[in-house]
Amino acid sequence: MTQRTSIAIIGMGGIGGVVASCLQLSGRHQIVVCARRNAEAVTLEQPQGIHRLTLDVVTNPLQADHVDWIILCTKTQDTASASGWFERLCGPSTCVAVLQNGIEHERRVAPYVGSRAVVPAVVYFNGERRSASDFGFRHASEDDIAIPDSATGQAFAALFEGTSLKVSPRQDFPQRLWTKLLLNAVANPITALTRRRLAVFQRGDIHSVASDIIQEGLAVALACGVDLGEKAQSQVLARLLSYHPDVATSMYFDTVNGRILEVDALTGAIVRMGELCGVPTPTNRILLALLQAVSDGAKLEERR
Ligand SMILES: NC(=O)c1ccc[n+]([C@@H]2O[C@H](COP(=O)([O-])OP(=O)(O)OC[C@H]3O[C@@H](n4cnc5c(N)ncnc54)[C@H](OP(=O)(O)O)[C@@H]3O)[C@@H](O)[C@H]2O)c1
Repeated sequence: MTQRTSIAIIGMGGIGGVVASCLQLSGRHQIVVCARRNAEAVTLEQPQGIHRLTLDVVTNPLQADHVDWIILCTKTQDTASASGWFERLCGPSTCVAVLQNGIEHERRVAPYVGSRAVVPAVVYFNGERRSASDFGFRHASEDDIAIPDSATGQAFAALFEGTSLKVSPRQDFPQRLWTKLLLNAVANPITALTRRRLAVFQRGDIHSVASDIIQEGLAVALACGVDLGEKAQSQVLARLLSYHPDVATSMYFDTVNGRILEVDALTGAIVRMGELCGVPTPTNRILLALLQAVSDGAKLEERR
């Protein structure tokens, strides 16, 4: 009998809960979830229907052992807090997939995974944790997850065969990574700072700030060797305006709820890469300072 592939999912939020549940439902692999809270009996609502299932959840890194694959699904700012999990889960041939926003997936996990193969991912589906044990997802694009078209990328995609998540190796992965970054770097900061949903982009003055953010991002992408083409700016703006005005972003909800913001991986990445490549990013720099101040305020409140 062939041995089943062992997969650990770190983080049981909107993305981790859905990924773990979909893989578990396929019955093909040995799944363990590394979480901060236990929730073994889980409900998954997906377009095909509602499923009840049981997950193997561990809450202490000492309960974890080497696996074939680690799928990191925490928010970017929580990556360092998962170091204990990586220490226990990484064997000599473990591969790591990073399902997070931003563009610096490899850099974020490098301190914890040594020379192991890392698969960065662009997550397109909407994953929602409605309660500790209740998850739902909606397809939001042709692909649910895009990854590089490499041997390890293809091996990662193969894990999801027979599940309801469509994971696609894509040759234009760098373009997809930057396009998603630009969309996030416009929608999240502006909705968070104005505390308004996407309807705010119907204002002419906000539309013009959005154009500045994208223009700077496009120049940085180009300097990094990723050409998104002449139409990229209007395409990102059109995409933003195509969503229902009542839709809100995760950073909007995090601001309203006084939580730490995932800003360093989005606006911070544009500013950082701009500095590296000598491309000025004045608008993103201002947004970064404002949002870091908001986020640090939430951190201070958490410590009280
Ligand atoms: N949700 C979406 O639709 C969506 C779409 C595209 C991209 N993304 C990106 O995907 C990533 C994950 O997002 P998400 O929505 O799943 O976030 P989330 O709902 O906040 O879930 C993150 C989970 O990670 C857990 N966690 C944090 N540190 C941990 C640690 N050290 N050990 C174990 N668990 C830990 C959190 O635990 P607690 O519950 O204890 O806080 C939380 O359950 C983000 O980069 C996000 O931007 C999300």
